[in-house]
Amino acid sequence: MPIDIRPVAVPDALGTPAAREFESSAELGVELERANWGHEDFAYSAAELLAAHRNDRHRGHAWIGAWDGDTMIGRAGLEWERDAGASTVELTLGVQPRHRRQGVGSRLLAAAEDAARDLGRSTIVAYSDHADAESAPADGPVLRAPEGDAALPASVPAAGFAAAHGYDLAQLERVSSLVVSGRADEFRSELDTRTARANALGYRLELWTDRTPARLVDAYAAARGRMALDVPAGGITIDEERWDAARVREREGESLDGGRTLLVAAAVAPNGSLAGYTELELPLEREVAFQSDTLVVGPHRGHGLGMLTKLANLARLTEVAPERTVVYTWNADENDHMLAINVALGFRRCGLEAVWQRD
Ligand SMILES: CC(C)(COP(=O)(O)OP(=O)(O)OC[C@H]1O[C@@H](n2cnc3c(N)ncnc32)[C@H](O)[C@@H]1OP(=O)(O)O)[C@@H](O)C(=O)NCCC(=O)NCCS
Repeated sequence: MPIDIRPVAVPDALGTPAAREFESSAELGVELERANWGHEDFAYSAAELLAAHRNDRHRGHAWIGAWDGDTMIGRAGLEWERDAGASTVELTLGVQPRHRRQGVGSRLLAAAEDAARDLGRSTIVAYSDHADAESAPADGPVLRAPEGDAALPASVPAAGFAAAHGYDLAQLERVSSLVVSGRADEFRSELDTRTARANALGYRLELWTDRTPARLVDAYAAARGRMALDVPAGGITIDEERWDAARVREREGESLDGGRTLLVAAAVAPNGSLAGYTELELPLEREVAFQSDTLVVGPHRGHGLGMLTKLANLARLTEVAPERTVVYTWNADENDHMLAINVALGFRRCGLEAVWQRD
């Protein structure tokens, strides 16, 4: 049967006949995560994917599916900043293992590139995941990114596929995990010492869940807008993200809509601005949490605020959600300062995320 490549329709609600294709896309995502990692900790639920579409005023999303009859065998996911100045589309692409090397990935990629062109974007940034346990022997040929020391075995399928389509390796991100069970007391006592030190410098800690307090929302938006500018970019083009209070509220709405809980810990400077913040995302009914953004704003670096905010959030996680035993995080391999904090906390590498780019 010929393979059909077509956009995945976005339904108004799940559990309806109109939602079937969209739900298939989420199901295939679970299968692809299992094939990559041997677990489905990173898979998005259909509810989370739908929430991203329902809250898309600032960030666009689209899925393209590859169909063998009624079965989705591959998918391409696109995301882009809606800002007029943006130039990139971010892409995730996956094909069921038994359907690989039959040209399906290439057809999905061509459709994604067409969509990017229609959006007026000149650059595609694509991601691939590589579990350490699955990687090829360390003594074979490797690829390196423009910055950092990590090396990706050149034999992984994504590397062959990227090379065949003119994509360069732009960055390697270290994927790490931290077992948090049993560490509540340790986090809490270290936090107390560090909080006293930060207070003496005039900083105060603020913690919130899901909804940013109104008095902090503008300061939080200002800090969030710095994230895309300050994170190490390696060879990647990263579009600026414009954040204001409305975008913060939209993102909070998206998280709640998709069943995710957000734990935010922030350090507030004496002038009321946010000196730094960190976030943990808690997907519904899972035993994991994701350490997402952490940022300390330039002039406030060097005072231990990155470690302070992370510890505050981890201490809280172990207290409010003891069923979450593992925290995952992603860091550019060249991001020495962030990695130093994470290694000190006990995070250990479990794989790499490769970032490929073609202009
Ligand atoms: C990467 C991936 C999407 C490729 O899908 P696919 O349907 O097998 O790709 P295609 O059949 O269109 O392959 C096109 C070309 O890419 C190259 N390629 C694909 N897989 C390869 C592999 N395992 N080793 C070396 N080259 C490979 C080849 O040049 C191939 O052409 P050929 O088969 O005529 O030699 C698929 O392996 C996959 O889903 N991997 C896991 C997810 C992933 O890594 N996605 C990120 C992509 S950047």
